[in-house]
Amino acid sequence: MKVLANDGISQSGIDHLTKAGVEVSTEKVAQEDLAKVMNKEGYVGILVRSATTVRRDLIDAVPGLKFIGRGGVGMDNIDVEYARSKGIAVFNTPAASSQSVAELVMAHMFSAARSLFDSNRLMPTQGSSEFKALKKKYAKGMELRGKTLGIVGFGRIGRALASYALGCGMKVISTDKYPSDAPVKLHIEGHGSIEVQVPNISFDQILKESDFISLHVPKQEDGSAVIAKAELEKMKSNAVLINAARGGVVNEADLLGALEAGQLKYAALDVFDNEPTPDGKVLSHEKISLSPHIGAATTEAQGRIGVELAEQILEVLGKTIA
Ligand code: 3PG
Repeated sequence: MKVLANDGISQSGIDHLTKAGVEVSTEKVAQEDLAKVMNKEGYVGILVRSATTVRRDLIDAVPGLKFIGRGGVGMDNIDVEYARSKGIAVFNTPAASSQSVAELVMAHMFSAARSLFDSNRLMPTQGSSEFKALKKKYAKGMELRGKTLGIVGFGRIGRALASYALGCGMKVISTDKYPSDAPVKLHIEGHGSIEVQVPNISFDQILKESDFISLHVPKQEDGSAVIAKAELEKMKSNAVLINAARGGVVNEADLLGALEAGQLKYAALDVFDNEPTPDGKVLSHEKISLSPHIGAATTEAQGRIGVELAEQILEVLGKTIA
């Protein structure tokens, strides 16, 4: 049995599969060559992250395909329903990366609170000639403690983020189409857990009341933005908007307009329209903290993802570890 991990897989995942007699290739195949190579090599499954797409044409062109595994959460790069209608198993690893994404959002929030992303850009070139001017530029930082974080989409990642933010003394509010009464567990190492009930309020209230807003919703089916001009206008003028969910969830042109007009303080983006070639105006904007879609890119998350993928593959293939 041969599997192609076209966007990579952790060594722990490879070991798990190899032990069960499944051969894994991590050699990157160009999108346009996938059908040819998969048929020639006899791959029964393909594993992807967000870089490789598995659309209807590829599914049709590889008759021996038994499964498609997504190492991560978002499956907008896979024609899931079509594949399943052809009897192909499709699975992802929804829980494995929540902590890592939540920590990245916290990093962007801390960075925005003290303008670190901007000072990191300017210090190397102006740090010795303009030290006093830069000190003045960044003099109005803020503390996270006591600020309100609005979380849009209160699933696994939203909840993991809530626990970090609560630990920092933030007030956390949330909105979700399908709210749950389950409390957020805040684990204090060596001291057990406490449970906190995070209120579910309307999206409109989140926009109006939050100092920080973090988005944790999937790409909308009709491609529409969750945050565009009308929503940006409702936000506090000193608010910070964070998108570590999916490109397109925020309308980038409207965001640039709002930042120019002083309708919000900063934005932090880990995901973009047109990945992997985002708009230069977004990348060079002085009020945007940036990272290149690395929410799940930690050794810990990828380790968990690899093992979880391997377990699901073995289940699909009906095999067990020897
Ligand atoms: C996800 O949907 O799991 C994240 O966006 C991570 O995507 P990546 O695996 O391409 O880093």
